Amino acid sequence: PTKLRVSEAISGSNLGANIKIQGWVRSVRPQKKNLFLHVNDGSSLQSLQIIATFCCSQIRLLTFGCAVEVTGLLKQSPNQKQPVELEADKIRVVGECNPLDFPFKIKERHAVEYIRQFPHLRCRTNAFSSLLRIRSEATAAIHSYFKKNGFVQIHTPIITSNDCEGAGELFAVQPQRPENDVDEKFFSVPAFLTVSGQLHLEVMSGAFSKVYTFGPTFRAENSQSRRHLAEFYMVEAELSFTQSIEDLTEVMEDIFKSSTEYVLAQCAEDVALFHKHVSPGHRVSSKGMTYSEAVDILNRSSQNFVFPTEWGCDLQKEHEKYLVKHCGNIPVFVTDYPYDLKPFYARDNQDHPEHTAAAVDLLVPGVGELCGGSLREERLDLLRTRLEEVGLEDAYSWYLDLRRFGSIPHGGFGLGFERYLQCILGVDNIKDVIPFPRFSHSCLL
Ligand code: 4AD
Ligand code: MG
Repeated sequence: PTKLRVSEAISGSNLGANIKIQGWVRSVRPQKKNLFLHVNDGSSLQSLQIIATFCCSQIRLLTFGCAVEVTGLLKQSPNQKQPVELEADKIRVVGECNPLDFPFKIKERHAVEYIRQFPHLRCRTNAFSSLLRIRSEATAAIHSYFKKNGFVQIHTPIITSNDCEGAGELFAVQPQRPENDVDEKFFSVPAFLTVSGQLHLEVMSGAFSKVYTFGPTFRAENSQSRRHLAEFYMVEAELSFTQSIEDLTEVMEDIFKSSTEYVLAQCAEDVALFHKHVSPGHRVSSKGMTYSEAVDILNRSSQNFVFPTEWGCDLQKEHEKYLVKHCGNIPVFVTDYPYDLKPFYARDNQDHPEHTAAAVDLLVPGVGELCGGSLREERLDLLRTRLEEVGLEDAYSWYLDLRRFGSIPHGGFGLGFERYLQCILGVDNIKDVIPFPRFSHSCLL
């Protein structure tokens, strides 16, 4: 027999063939003469219908969740519901599954909160396996966007000695040593899990015109919110010789649109299980607004916000949500934030009456902030002064070097990959779009 994946068997191109499939039983339906099984192997949302017309010696072991290997004849199905079915001549139970102990019950729709309690088993549910396929395709779409557009991928380090965002949300990295082992420090400097690959990308933008990285980033955020994780994936791009924020917003918009188009087309069946916030076409607000305009809009609104909306205060989720709604529930850019709200690397908008930085956030329906980016301060004197003000000029002498040796105007941004998935699929909680969520008080598995 030819070994096929379920998706290949269902495609119908192997009708009449003697095939073998391997997977997990998603449903069991005994009838008078026949036994109907549905077997799934993660290759598609669809399961393959198996029809067993004989009395299988292992029949009592064929339960929801067990692993099987089935060989038989692939035929056209008389039933409209599925195009093909496999008439089994041999069914072998590879791994048994006691349905009384298995946390998921056949035909039951479990709540996401319940499913989340079983990070080691939740890939066995339809909804989560769909999510994982979509996540995989969205990853491919993002890499493909960058490849098509001439970006070089850089593997930025996970362990680093810098705190790019300066927000004090670092996880320290130290070797695990026996208690009274008075070894020297492993690294001679304090080391952390990276909060962003930006500074390493900035190094590379001294030699490449377009670079990107896409990997895990870490923040010791003491937040139980529905859009924060301690470990999340970030897509970061850095562009050399950028003159304006529009150079950045163009790329952000392009990635958002092209990846979303790809995912909606490539994973139509899986995506249909979710309540999308984004429909094909998904406009990004062409207007955009400055931070000052955003503050005006918030102050003119009749809504009572919990957090202050004065000029100089950071925009909170409630504000971001309001602004997105105000623009017709489509993604919107907010630019030129107060200088003091932004990290040391953000470029000073010296020509503005208010003291702002050339920074931009992309706000999207469902989640609020999806991307954060800025032009970087490329002027040596201004950057040195800023670093001196925060007492970091020694730690960042290498960063100042980048402005000494062939400095160029440049800028970039980071896109939170889980928030992107939340946005396009309408998933309320960020813990439901990552295989193994890590957040405060929780590091299961
Ligand atoms: O706005 P952030 O902090 O920007 C940076 O880290 C820049 N250094 C990126 C750059 O310019 N290269 O983070 C970027 C995005 C946010 O807009 C948000 O979508 C996501 O990362 N993000 C988180 N996602 C999940 N959990 C968290 N704790 C997150 N913190 C930020
Ligand atoms: Mg941000």
